[in-house]
Amino acid sequence: MVSYKELGLVNTREMFAKAVKGGYAIPAFNFNTMEQMQAIVQAAVETKSPVIMQVSKGARNYANATILRYMAQGAVEYAKELGCPNPQIVLHLDHGDSFELCKDCIDMGFSSVMYDGSSLPYEENIKISRQVVEYAHAHDVTVECELGVLAGVEDEVSSAVSHYTKPEEVIDFATRTGCDSLAISIGTSHGAYKFTPAQCTRNAEGKLVPPPLAFDVLHEIEKKLPGFPIVLHGSSSVPQEEVDTINQYGGKLPDAIGIPEEQLREASKSAVCKINIDSDSRLAMTAAIRKYLAENPGHFDPRQYLKPARENMKKMYIHKIVNVLGSNDKL
Ligand code: G3H
Ligand code: 13P
Ligand code: ZN
Repeated sequence: MVSYKELGLVNTREMFAKAVKGGYAIPAFNFNTMEQMQAIVQAAVETKSPVIMQVSKGARNYANATILRYMAQGAVEYAKELGCPNPQIVLHLDHGDSFELCKDCIDMGFSSVMYDGSSLPYEENIKISRQVVEYAHAHDVTVECELGVLAGVEDEVSSAVSHYTKPEEVIDFATRTGCDSLAISIGTSHGAYKFTPAQCTRNAEGKLVPPPLAFDVLHEIEKKLPGFPIVLHGSSSVPQEEVDTINQYGGKLPDAIGIPEEQLREASKSAVCKINIDSDSRLAMTAAIRKYLAENPGHFDPRQYLKPARENMKKMYIHKIVNVLGSNDKL
């Protein structure tokens, strides 16, 4: 059993309270590789931003849970080495699907966990969420729970259609679970294909324009739970230039589409205080690697193509922090 406090990590409590008050959102970036971790830390340090580094069940399977935990510990030390004496870094479990998984992460040094019971019947979701909250709070670990279903894939949980969070349920859910933050469904979804072309309109240049997020639902929820930290999953914006680069250099991502950044900027000014971004990092990495290898067919040292990949991810993280979420200069 190791406490996150010994590793120099922090939980989300104070960070979220400040973000809600200050009208900005904390970036929650997924990581699976050392290059992602380095790029996240460099971006957070350069912009003086708090940051949530999150690990999915898929990431644990890919990289090994122990290695990821040591990488987060290394991230704290790396941030200090880069000149940030008191970094605010959260190590968060993304989409935990059982009490046992959440407990395992808490016991190994995570400072925050998500229990995602959004696909379960309401009472079952409350029951397990409550169980996770009790264990987590006994260790001063904060808990995110989810109400409402996002379209797309969340690890093993997948749904073809989204079901918006019902504002009339949020007071009961937050009170009975005791959760510290609530992930809601207002039209975002996971992955690089958030909307089908049929769900979109086309602008004058023929580009797809997605339907707007359900801000009315968000505002209803805010009225029911004033000041309560709200989380948005599935918030990659799927930058067209990265998609174009991937397609130009042999990839095939037709009609990939994300959430427009103006809408995420708008959401960040509200009680939304954590915004999850994973796909944009995957796109930035893949675009840089495809371009590099196409332009340098004789190169085979991974450091040669991972370096521009890391640079491109860092550029993307900085852009999100400064121009979309507004969490810069908040340390
Ligand atoms: O919510 C999903 C995250 O993007 C994590 O994806 O389960 O493929 O690691 P993953
Ligand atoms: P994206 O697929 O939009 O990046 O969402 C990531 C996410 O919600 C992780 O939990
Ligand atoms: Zn998610």
